[in-house]
Amino acid sequence: MTPFFIAGRPAASDDAVEIRHPYDGRPVGTTSNATPEQVEAAVAAAAAVAPEAAALPAHARAAALDHVSARLKERADEVARLITAENGKPLKWSRGEVARAVSTFRWAAEEARRFSGTLQRLDTDAAATGRLAVVRRVPRGPVLGISPFNFPLNLVAHKVAPALAAGAPIVLKPAPATPLSALLLGEILAETDLPAGVWSIVPIPNDRAAALVADPRLPVVSFTGSGPVGWQIRDAVPRKHVTLELGGNAAVVVCEDYDDLDWAATRIATFSNYQAGQSCIAVQRVYVHQRHYDALAERVVAAVEAQRTGDPNDEQTDVGPLISEDAAKRVEAWVSEAVAAGAKLLTGGARDGASYAPTVLAAAPADAKVTAEEVFGPVLVLERVASDADGFAAVNASQYGLQAGVFTRRLDRAFEAQRVLEVGGVIVGDVPSYRADQMPYGGVKGSGIGREGLASAMADYTEERVMVLTGLQL
Ligand code: SIN
Repeated sequence: MTPFFIAGRPAASDDAVEIRHPYDGRPVGTTSNATPEQVEAAVAAAAAVAPEAAALPAHARAAALDHVSARLKERADEVARLITAENGKPLKWSRGEVARAVSTFRWAAEEARRFSGTLQRLDTDAAATGRLAVVRRVPRGPVLGISPFNFPLNLVAHKVAPALAAGAPIVLKPAPATPLSALLLGEILAETDLPAGVWSIVPIPNDRAAALVADPRLPVVSFTGSGPVGWQIRDAVPRKHVTLELGGNAAVVVCEDYDDLDWAATRIATFSNYQAGQSCIAVQRVYVHQRHYDALAERVVAAVEAQRTGDPNDEQTDVGPLISEDAAKRVEAWVSEAVAAGAKLLTGGARDGASYAPTVLAAAPADAKVTAEEVFGPVLVLERVASDADGFAAVNASQYGLQAGVFTRRLDRAFEAQRVLEVGGVIVGDVPSYRADQMPYGGVKGSGIGREGLASAMADYTEERVMVLTGLQL
């Protein structure tokens, strides 16, 4: 049985949890849920060690983070296979996720070394002659990290690494469907010299998370997951520092000037289907200038049909199963609803157990769930627009705002997109699914609050503390 980690030490309970492969249902591992007493021990240890964690020298924090990065790299094949086993994403995407986690921890080590604060002159007023402010950031306190199933390693890394880099203890609750990758990370973290209590990884069922969220010893909550749960957390603890990464219905605009339709179609097809669409920034809505619509639609359908579906353990597979049969049934129902409401099915639309065929719809109504909600499945919706401005307006006609992709070569159009699009990030010349792990990442509107990306998350986990020095000759 794979252990979980309380205050950095392996632990287990009688409440066993079996994890099964989403593709064929075979058992791939067993762990157990932490008991309430074990969770209490993790939280108490995090609170007790907080002053020591905050005072750890940068070299100690950076060394631990570098160690994790190096060990993930060494064990990359094994880790990728574990991600595929518990999550069902094709090996090629699991390998990509491991490479990203290597980089997430490496960046965290680098940010830990640079995390120095700033100086501010105060002698801009005669009365403050000889005064200087030293502005440093100190941890707000231990962090509760709650991570989702869709990136069971790298989205855990995005909770844990910035906390350790900033000197904040963290208690991490992995997604119940995919705890094993997080626990393997725990195995590696346990090789470091970090003080006991600085990190714990506690698998518990979702219905026990509310008590952790409410615990006053965890003043920061960093949540990635569904909108309703995220906003419930925020409403439950208005005085805590809560960051929410809640997903979206990411859009692409193919502008009038853009001429490389083959590139655009390939990227759109790949990134509406990667991880079977189970990414918050998977391409879902595609707004195409009328000049290109017919030519692009034909290319997108061909590129989607070229995606290889099947066993995620096969290195050649592009699109594997969703996380569960229930998830695939929900996607099936949403597509049927859109078709009944007038959408045209250009390809796909079939379910086989937990797998759903890569699907392209055209002219889906704006209020159909496949347009208005987050599909989290391999489905994209094409829409013709009369102008680039109409495309931008369509992107904004959403309750969400995480990232958008804009295919244009015009610099003025790119800056216009950044100015007008209500999202956390605009990717020019590519799909919204692009994410570099060091970059600020997060959304506006229903997509959440706060930003991941190492430096940004470290800012979220800490607050400014000013020291004013007086009587200086500057
Ligand atoms: C997410 O699904 O929010 C994460 C996307 C990513 O890290 O690429």
